[in-house]
Amino acid sequence: MAKLGVNIDHVATLRQARREDDPDPILAAQIAEEAGADSIVAHLREDRRHIQDKDIRTLRKTVKTRLNLEMSLHKEIVEIAARIRPYQATLVPEKREEITTEGGLDVVRHFHKIKNAGDILKKKGIEVSLFIDPVKKQIDKTKEAGIHIIELHTGKYDRVKTKLAQAKELEKLKAMTKYAQSKGILVNAGHGLKYHNTKAIARIKGMEELNIGHSIIARAVFVGLKKAIEEMVEIVR
Ligand code: PXP
Repeated sequence: MAKLGVNIDHVATLRQARREDDPDPILAAQIAEEAGADSIVAHLREDRRHIQDKDIRTLRKTVKTRLNLEMSLHKEIVEIAARIRPYQATLVPEKREEITTEGGLDVVRHFHKIKNAGDILKKKGIEVSLFIDPVKKQIDKTKEAGIHIIELHTGKYDRVKTKLAQAKELEKLKAMTKYAQSKGILVNAGHGLKYHNTKAIARIKGMEELNIGHSIIARAVFVGLKKAIEEMVEIVR
């Protein structure tokens, strides 16, 4: 049975729109856990557009499940993560001008930088995961870097326009999940997952956890956060 990690970034996006105190992402994390979330995901971006440093420090104390900190390889962010010590760090590529994370990390190209950041974080007892595209050589390099958790990027699976193209993306995700598992790597997935396209990903054999943010927070505007999460928990399980 797959697990659900709820990304609370967009609660903070709404708060930052007014630079006031509400809505509070810390309260969102509590509600998410009450509604059945298996972990809480938050991305401390270099530009601090939504989650702030203080949020991460507070979440570290208040999250009862697992705190999964999404983060870039930037030196300052790696130092913050090493200091705060979340349960898990998921390394993602980050560009200032992007609306949200675009591609997966290129572990082939940035091998040394990634291995170095991974080593620093692991030494602090933090589980390290890499957000990568479902591509064999990225998985091979992840293993070579001594990292045993990946999050497969489901953005393309979400974005393609035809049923045939989507089926092809799903097959790719299934094959790469199996390949990574054969190498002893634990496989999560996320990005762009919605109420209508999550079930097929949750059904992939051995899929550990799905990390979902935008679609849940968007639905929460209409049905409330607790209900939006409960509905997604049911789909994922
Ligand atoms: N996983 C990773 C690595 C991400 O960067 C994001 C977006 O912050 C998500 C999952 C959640 O994506 P979405 O908001 O599209 O559900």
